[in-house]
Amino acid sequence: MSNTVTLLINGEQIGVAGGTTILQAARLLDIDIPTLCHDDELEDRAQCRLCVVEIDGRPRLEPACATQVAEGMTVSTDSETTLAARRMTLELLLSEHPQSCPTRARGGECNLCDYADDYGIRAPAFGYGSETEDIRENSFISRNAAACILCSKCARACEQVQGVGELGFMGRGIGVTARPAVGKTLEQTECEMCGNCVVVCPTGALRATGPPGRADAKVRTTCGYCGVGCQFDLNVRAGRVVGVTTEPDNPVNGKWLCVKGRFGYEFIHHPERLTAPLIRRGDRLEPASWDEALGAVASRLAEIKAANGPDAIGFMSSSRCTNEENYLVQKLARAVIGTNNVDQCART
Ligand code: SF4
Ligand code: SF4
Ligand code: FES
Repeated sequence: MSNTVTLLINGEQIGVAGGTTILQAARLLDIDIPTLCHDDELEDRAQCRLCVVEIDGRPRLEPACATQVAEGMTVSTDSETTLAARRMTLELLLSEHPQSCPTRARGGECNLCDYADDYGIRAPAFGYGSETEDIRENSFISRNAAACILCSKCARACEQVQGVGELGFMGRGIGVTARPAVGKTLEQTECEMCGNCVVVCPTGALRATGPPGRADAKVRTTCGYCGVGCQFDLNVRAGRVVGVTTEPDNPVNGKWLCVKGRFGYEFIHHPERLTAPLIRRGDRLEPASWDEALGAVASRLAEIKAANGPDAIGFMSSSRCTNEENYLVQKLARAVIGTNNVDQCART
């Protein structure tokens, strides 16, 4: 639908396209509505009910994330009834959440605890839940069932973004948890270890098994593993990369990544990582300066060209290089060596 719908939210008038949700319209007015199960890039299931709002003429509170605007609608996002309902929802969620939040204890962020603080809940009416041990799901992901609020964002990200569908709700009644099927760990499934379920988890029930604690700094960079050009932030602490995080504004990949970009950062500080060029001398590879290495390459290319002609030489470039670097490779081949033997792994 593209017709414009006019409504009032907290007394402010706004016109939005038909099909817009109340949550989206409220955000256009800079009105903050708390959400736990909503993600802008996943289909809404309206599971947490934290985003409820009051709509004139409707007999019950409605979830803002899953209710579309209607002409003449009058919405209140901060009435006493609405705030009381949200407090009750938070208290019920906290009744199954340990008082000592396992995510905060590791220096992570728990949206549930943050909202409880915002709503001034210090002694929830139904008490707190009990603690559970972390379960190591695979090499990169751990899960703590007690921190899970059954929002299903992990399952939706796995199915709707990654196209894998290895997470879902298992068990019955109070024993329901979000996890892989039939008692398996993610290690035993077709999980691609992308970590996209971890990214959307609002409470840190799913978390990356990196070192705990917050980063001192974040450095935006482009992934070097393939030519897609995904961006992410290297999390740095005490001069070492300790994790990778993503922001939705990354132009290529948003907040999503594959396993290599998300978890393949330990090579950065690996003691066997090459940090200088090596020149083969006899049976041995010996460290050299860049000037020495480039000089050796140039003189060998000149020797081969003199002995066998320019078409004895071929150049293979890479989609991991920038466009400018790839341009220079073909320039070197054609203008300096004099051959059209130049190819690139992304040609097809
Ligand atoms: S890591 Fe990726 S593939 Fe594995 S469960 Fe999470 S979203 Fe699904
Ligand atoms: S593990 Fe996290 S994302 Fe999945 S249902 Fe639980 S709280 Fe939601
Ligand atoms: S955010 Fe709307 S129901 Fe959870």
